[in-house]
Amino acid sequence: MGSAGPGGRPPQTPPPGHGPGGRPPQTPPIIDWPALRAAATAAASRAYAPYSGLRVGAAGQTSDGRIIVGCNVENASFGLTLCAECGLVSALHAAAPADEDAALEAVAVVAGDGEPLLPCGRCRQLLLEAGGGALLVDTADGPVELKVLLPAAFTTSDLAERREREPS
Ligand code: THU
Repeated sequence: MGSAGPGGRPPQTPPPGHGPGGRPPQTPPIIDWPALRAAATAAASRAYAPYSGLRVGAAGQTSDGRIIVGCNVENASFGLTLCAECGLVSALHAAAPADEDAALEAVAVVAGDGEPLLPCGRCRQLLLEAGGGALLVDTADGPVELKVLLPAAFTTSDLAERREREPS
């Protein structure tokens, strides 16, 4: 996340360390997966999902020891539905970090039954910008890096490299 991400000041430019490569190689973070799943399950119990009947909770652990949660919020105008991960990413940006360089290190997403649910495509993209490709995502088969779930992603570097220039 760095100073440009949710842990720091609002970025004027996207976070340089983010994208499919994620943070530089370092010691793997220690994640309390049962606690993260429990936080996600508690968030799911507070979801507003009267239309689909599928409650979803998401919980993320940051490198400065915080657990941030989100839940899905549906709407009578179905297309306005907010996924649980959207709430999580919004809360991550809104929350005051203990450490300005805090990074989002791990995410658990569960359904109301407490079992892992893989993030939808849109939310994988959202999580990529919030945590980078090295973000660990809980799955039924154990944690996997987000770059495995979202290979060949569109990132901020695509914007920089492919933006049309004014003709000279
Ligand atoms: N949902 C999420 O909250 N996250 C996902 O990654 C997949 C889907 C929610 C949206 C909607 O409220 C319900 O699940 C059914 O699609």
